[in-house]
Amino acid sequence: MENLRALIDKYKIEIAAEAISNVAEAEAFRIKYLGTKGLVKTIMGEMRNVIPENKKEAGQLLNEFKIFAEEKFSSFNNNSSFENASVSAGIDLTLPGTALPLGTRHPISIIQNKIVSIFNKLGFAVAEGPEIEDDFHNFTALNLPEDHPARDMQDTFYLNEEPAWLLRTHTSSVQIREMQKGKLPLRIICPGRVYRNETISARAHCFFNQVEGLYIAENVSFADLKQTLYFFVKEMFGEDIKVRFRPSYFPFTEPSAEMDISCLICGGEGCSVCKKTGWVEILGCGMVHPKVLENCGIDSNKYTGFAFGMGIERITMLSYQIKDLRLFSENDIRFLKQFETAL
Ligand code: PHE
Repeated sequence: MENLRALIDKYKIEIAAEAISNVAEAEAFRIKYLGTKGLVKTIMGEMRNVIPENKKEAGQLLNEFKIFAEEKFSSFNNNSSFENASVSAGIDLTLPGTALPLGTRHPISIIQNKIVSIFNKLGFAVAEGPEIEDDFHNFTALNLPEDHPARDMQDTFYLNEEPAWLLRTHTSSVQIREMQKGKLPLRIICPGRVYRNETISARAHCFFNQVEGLYIAENVSFADLKQTLYFFVKEMFGEDIKVRFRPSYFPFTEPSAEMDISCLICGGEGCSVCKKTGWVEILGCGMVHPKVLENCGIDSNKYTGFAFGMGIERITMLSYQIKDLRLFSENDIRFLKQFETAL
């Protein structure tokens, strides 16, 4: 009995030290210890040499030993049922898989996200609205009554004549909807797709994307507008960028301006992108016209505000030096996959 005990202890230590971390090692373990010629069977045979009065005790010892070896084997088995299943199915699931092609973000989305996050820092919230609009929200409320000549500035796609349903020509219509809600002060940006009946070329398309901004509170001044846009441009293009404002006209703002930045392609030297002027126009802006405020039920004696609007395509083209705007909507993967995915 003593010999038997010593033998079993020795084998237990051996078994405990045995490494089973893959199918091959498990199979080797099974053959060595649990197989028909394995150690457990062999040592069971020792029962023959045990005297009858010790048989019960020896039987218990040997049984325990058998369970000890089986447990070691099945603990691996439980952890690797996939691997075993794959072996029996003739597949090796440990091989690396075929990677699924991952899409990349569209350059317009990347730049839109960047613009939105810059204005988020200044406390502007995102507001969205419908792409199919009525005449009131797209034109009339914005101080473009019927027959106003400025309506021609934006060639409109009409869906219906009476009542006039149209594809919005700018996201200013979203600003009207937000002002009508009557919650002031209001500080929003409105990103979204807009439509104009323009001939498609390298510089124009019949649909494009805008981000428009609106801030209405008491005592908002043109200085606030300029400071906001300076901040935006520096965050977007870096500290060295130069900015200028030119007087302009929009029916919904007074005074109105357009903002240019120094050309990113030639650094202001003059090139084909800036038409040799060194400057590129990136947005329109101004102080919200009192009539627009009144049209939305806002007291224009108490509140003032500024608004601005920019085309995302233009900014994306400048950021990535893209020369043809049609690339954005052609869905050529060779073009689309060149832009970063993060942001
Ligand atoms: N809505 C104008 C456009 O689409 C842009 C703009 C917005 C200009 C706000 C001034 C103020 O062209």
